[in-house]
Amino acid sequence: MVQANKAFTDAAKANATACAIIFNPRTLLYIMTDTERILFLREELERHNRNYYILNAPEISDREFDALMAELIALEKAHPEMADPNSPTMRVGSDLSTDFVQVEHRYPMLSLGNTYNREEVAAFWQRVADGLGGEPFCLCGELKFDGLGISLIYEHGRLVRAVTRGDGVRGDDVTANVRTIRSVPLRLPEGGGWPDTFEIRGEILMPWERFNALNAEREAREEPLFANPRNAASGTLKSKSSATVAHRGLDVRLYYIPGAGTDADSHFASLTRAREWGFKVSSSMTRLQTLDEVYAFIDHWDEARHALPVATDGIVLKVDSLRQQQDLGYTAKSPRWAIAYKFQPERACTPLIDVTYQVGRTGAVTPVAVMDPVQLAGTVVRRASLHNADILAGLHLHIGDHVYVEKAGEIIPQITGVDRAHSPQTTAPELQFITHCPICGAPLVRYEGEAATYCPNDTQCPPQQTGRIVHFISRDAMNIMALGPETVEAWYASGLIRDAADLYSLEVSQLCGADGTRERSARKVIQAIADSRQATFDRVVYALGIRFVGKVAAKALAAHFGSMEALRHATEEELTGIDGIGQVIATSVRAWMADERHQTFVDRLTACGVRMENEKTETLGHALDGLSIVVSGTFTHHSREEYKTMIEAHGGRNVSSISSKTSFILAGDNMGPAKLAKAQKLGVAIVSEEEFLQRLQGEA
Ligand code: IVH
Repeated sequence: MVQANKAFTDAAKANATACAIIFNPRTLLYIMTDTERILFLREELERHNRNYYILNAPEISDREFDALMAELIALEKAHPEMADPNSPTMRVGSDLSTDFVQVEHRYPMLSLGNTYNREEVAAFWQRVADGLGGEPFCLCGELKFDGLGISLIYEHGRLVRAVTRGDGVRGDDVTANVRTIRSVPLRLPEGGGWPDTFEIRGEILMPWERFNALNAEREAREEPLFANPRNAASGTLKSKSSATVAHRGLDVRLYYIPGAGTDADSHFASLTRAREWGFKVSSSMTRLQTLDEVYAFIDHWDEARHALPVATDGIVLKVDSLRQQQDLGYTAKSPRWAIAYKFQPERACTPLIDVTYQVGRTGAVTPVAVMDPVQLAGTVVRRASLHNADILAGLHLHIGDHVYVEKAGEIIPQITGVDRAHSPQTTAPELQFITHCPICGAPLVRYEGEAATYCPNDTQCPPQQTGRIVHFISRDAMNIMALGPETVEAWYASGLIRDAADLYSLEVSQLCGADGTRERSARKVIQAIADSRQATFDRVVYALGIRFVGKVAAKALAAHFGSMEALRHATEEELTGIDGIGQVIATSVRAWMADERHQTFVDRLTACGVRMENEKTETLGHALDGLSIVVSGTFTHHSREEYKTMIEAHGGRNVSSISSKTSFILAGDNMGPAKLAKAQKLGVAIVSEEEFLQRLQGEA
C-alpha cells in the first residue's frame, strides 16, 4: 500500500513539476486523477507545513496554503475510501470526545537526576569519567524544555502513535490530539533515510505568546487561569476535543531517540539526522568537551533563555557516545549518562497570612492569598490569586503554611503549592471557601459546570454595582476617563448614583462642596459624561457588561444588528450565525436582554441620549446596489469593519454566512478553509481586496 502510494505520488510530483511551468495549479486538477491529486496535495501540504512550522521558511502565502487545504478537504470528502488519519486535513482536529487508552512504553520513560549548582555538575562529570574508566568522553548540552514529555512512534515514515509519559511505564495514547500539532510531522519526506520503525521523544510545549493570549481570554471570561505554560500544555493535550488542541497552538521539541534509531554512535549526530527527517530539534544542542565549556553553556542559557519563545527550566547534559551511554547504564529511576541542571526558578516560598475574597462585577467571588512580602522575578509580591473554590480546596491550605508563588508570563502571581516540609506544624483547620458574600452577606451559589462561585445579589451587592459602573466608564467602553473607580465608589457609597444611567443626570452643584469648591473639576467630569453620549454603538454594547461579550463580540453584534432595538429582538440562531459569536455568547446575550431590569436600564440610557444605533452611513455610490456580500479574512488596506461600512455606503448588504444567495466574498488573507470550500461548492465568486477597491474606484 505504501509502495503503491509512493508510485502515485512520484508520478503526481513529476506531473506537477513538468506541468506547473505551463499550467497553473488549478489546471492540474484536470490532468491528475482525484487519487493522484489527493496524494500530491497531502505531500505538498505536509512540505509547506514543515517549511512554516519547523524551518520558519514558508514558500507560499497563507492564502495559497488555505486554498490547497480546501481543495484537499473537498477531494477527501468526495473520496471517503481515501481517508487517512495522517492527512494534513486531520490537523484541525475533531469535536468528538477522545477517551484515552493506556499504552505500555517499549522503553520506560525515565526521569533525570537534578543538579542545582556547579559543584553538583562537577560531581556528575567526575562520576561519568570514573564510570568510563578514564576513557575520553564528550557531553551534549541541551535546553531542558518545560512542558510535557511525549513519545512519538513512526512506522514506514508515518506517525502511528503518540503517548504521554504517564507513570513512565504506561502513558495515555494522545495520538488524535498530537496529530493537530503543526510542528509534529505526520509523514516524513520520502527517501529521507529514516529507519522503518522508530521512537522519538520530546516535549510538548505551549509557546509564551499563546499562553499569554489564552490566559487573557480566560481572564476576560472569568475562567481560572493556567499557572504556567507547562500546566496549560498538559491541560490542552489531555483535552477530550482535538479541535480544542488544534486551536491552542501547541509546539514540540524533540530530544531523544531511545534504542539508538540510527547507525550513528552519537546522540548529537542522531538528533541532527532527525532534524533532516523533518523533526523540530532545538538549535541550542551543543557538543561540550570540557567542564569549563559546560559552565559557559549554562551561563549563556541562564540569560538567553528569557528571549526564547517557549519555557525552559534548565539544561540537560548527556554523554554523547551511545556506546558510552550503554556502558554507564541506568539506576532504577534515571540514566547514569544524563543529568539536568535546574535554573533558579521564578518561584518563591513565603508564609500565608490570610485569604481574602474579592467580588467582581459579575458577582464572581475570587479568593486572594495575602502573604509575607517576598521578592519574585524583580518585584515584591504580597498577594496572589487562588482563583476558585476547587483550586483552594486542592491546595489544602492553613494560615502559616509556606506557599510557593510563581509568576507566569505577564500575569498576576499564583500559588502553585505548599512546602509542607518547611511549614509549621499546625492544628488549625484547613481553609474552607466562604459560604456567604463577604460584602452583602447573601448565600453564595455555584452553577452547574462553572468553576466560579457567585454572589447572586446582583442588584444590591455594592462591588457588583460599582464594578459594572467602572466597566461602563472604562477606556474601551464609554471612555469617561475623567472619572476613576475611587470616585465611582465614593458616589455610590454616598447614594449619589445607583447605576451608570444615573451618571447622566448628575449636576455640577451635586459634585462640588456647598461653597462651590472643586467646581472646575466637577464641570470637567460632567462634560466628559455628556461627551460619552457620542460613543459609538459598539462601545455602548460592550459597556453594558453582558457576560462573555468582549470588545470583539460587541463590535460584531453592533455591526450585524445596527441598533439596540434589533439586538434586543435577536434570536439565538441569528446570533450564532454571526462570525465569532458562539453558543455561549448567544445564550448570554439572550438572557441579558430578556431581563426586565436590563430593559429598563437600556431605556433610561436611551432617554439620556446615549447612542443606540450605528451612525447612518453616507451613500457614496451604487456600485454594490442589491448585492449580498460576505467579508472574510484579514486585510491590508482597511480594517474589516471599514470594508463593511464601505459596502453599505455603496448600496451593498453585509451578510455573515455564505449561501447560494451570496453575490461574492470579499476575501482577505487567512480566510478559513471551510469557508473557501463552501464558496467553491456553491460557486460563489471570491473577490480580492484590490479587485474590490478597483470596483469602487471605477465608480468614482
Ligand atoms: S532526556 C532518558 N532531554 O525532563 C532521558 N529530557 O526531568 C530522557 N526534558 O521526562 C529525557 N527537556 O520530559 C531530556 N532536552 C531534554 C529535555 C528533557 C525536557 C524533560 C523530559 C523528562 C524530564 C526529566
